Amino acid sequence: MTTRTSTTDSRHRAWSAMSAPVEAGRNGNGGSALPSAAILAGGTIVGDATNGHASGHASGHGAAEPDPARRPRVLGLRCRRCERPEAAGPSYVCPACFGPLEVVYDLEAIRAQASRARIEAREPGIWRYLELLPVAARPERGLAVGSTPLLRADRLGAELGLRAGNVRLKDDTRNPTLSFKDRVVAIAAARAVEFGFDTLACASTGNLAGATAAAAANLGLRAVVFVPSDLEPAKIDHALSYGATVVPVDGTYDDINRLSLEIADEEGWAFVNVNLRPYYSEGSRTLAFEVAEQLGWRLPDVIVAPMASGSLFTKVAKGFDLLVDAGLVAAKPVRFIGAQAEGCSPVAAAFAAGSETITPVRRPETIVRSLAIGSPADGAYAVALARRSGGAVLAVPDRATAAAIRRLGRTEGVFAETAGGVTIAGLEQAVASGQIGPDDEVVALITGNGVKTPDAKWFGLDEARAGAGQGSGLTRGGGLVPAIEPSYAAFVRAGLGS
Ligand SMILES: Cc1ncc(COP(=O)(O)O)c(C=O)c1O
Ligand SMILES: [Zn+2]
Repeated sequence: MTTRTSTTDSRHRAWSAMSAPVEAGRNGNGGSALPSAAILAGGTIVGDATNGHASGHASGHGAAEPDPARRPRVLGLRCRRCERPEAAGPSYVCPACFGPLEVVYDLEAIRAQASRARIEAREPGIWRYLELLPVAARPERGLAVGSTPLLRADRLGAELGLRAGNVRLKDDTRNPTLSFKDRVVAIAAARAVEFGFDTLACASTGNLAGATAAAAANLGLRAVVFVPSDLEPAKIDHALSYGATVVPVDGTYDDINRLSLEIADEEGWAFVNVNLRPYYSEGSRTLAFEVAEQLGWRLPDVIVAPMASGSLFTKVAKGFDLLVDAGLVAAKPVRFIGAQAEGCSPVAAAFAAGSETITPVRRPETIVRSLAIGSPADGAYAVALARRSGGAVLAVPDRATAAAIRRLGRTEGVFAETAGGVTIAGLEQAVASGQIGPDDEVVALITGNGVKTPDAKWFGLDEARAGAGQGSGLTRGGGLVPAIEPSYAAFVRAGLGS
């Protein structure tokens, strides 16, 4: 669980840590529920170790350090269900109750170590929020992820009847592999390197495959990505571009997820969103950190976000919470509005039914492939967040998604992938129903780039591919004009002259 020496060696170390997280006891503590001080003493500790590696010695390092300015900032992992502590290894499930694990921070240490000035002095990218992330030190290598623009969307806002300056887009179409997934992968990949894995893998609905493939290439790891066999070709090709092994699976995302659990166990690979999920999910918090900083260190009134597993949605809220707890922004209520595609909307269905029980969707039927998770891991947490924050979880028909992609492109010059269309269609729905009013300051998360789903924008339009249904050229908002001769007369004949 320290540095990588040889392939076989590292595979075994990674594997033994994964199959038996409490085997951190090799270092002095084993077995049953451990108090966090014991975790600090015995497990792999992520903290302020200057060499960037976990200390892992039974020295009491961290717990014995009274000065919060020098203490490790991460205490370990903890079960979200029964709160049982675990060492910060490559583990994701509670051995006691099978609940999901999450990272636990030492808030006093973070308060002592993080400051606005320190963050602002650093170069752009997710690592500027180092003290708020589950790593000891900035990784030596990695793609340039994050610090994407927060754009004013006044023309879109005006079409929806919202006040100028009140709608902003977090434009995550501009990450290295054109989606927000570069954020989550960057954190998981950093930990995979620390844990000594040599293979980075994922179960993907599309965007994660490209992000995992690129990060692995950049770090010199092998990439194996598992995707539904009927995925959009552009997304498969994207992952291939980075030299990954792409494994199409005849099944749904949920089938692939189950298969990945087995492969992670059998092969000892680092699946970014399976056995490294506690770290992976922390990456979504960086969206919250950036939004707050870009607003001048304050929080908006409403976040509108797309939802598949519900991880992004819930972690943005946790990101705001951490900023407040760290004393970096003032506390303020933020309403969280999540959006799903109607053809795969188990979280929206639970929200509408007033329940926190998620009934899985066995066969997703939607053009929004990136959000097609029928059994969302964080669904219940997402419903709870929407409810307690005064938000909602909405279901969006595919036609509305396609129209929203076109509207966003036409009004703001931002071309969104289907998930971004769901976000904008969700925003439209929330405005129409009065859940968002003209005085609300709204940030909509545009999490993927439209070049990955070029055909989706035409869904529901007759002959739209040729642009014929759009009107000809200048008159009705653009469209593809039939080819013309290279003469001004032909230009006029085509009805393009003034
Ligand atoms: C572009 C895009 N946005 C949003 C999401 C939703 O992510 P989560 O599973 O964290 O809800 C995904 C998931 O694949 C995605 O690809
Ligand atoms: Zn538990």
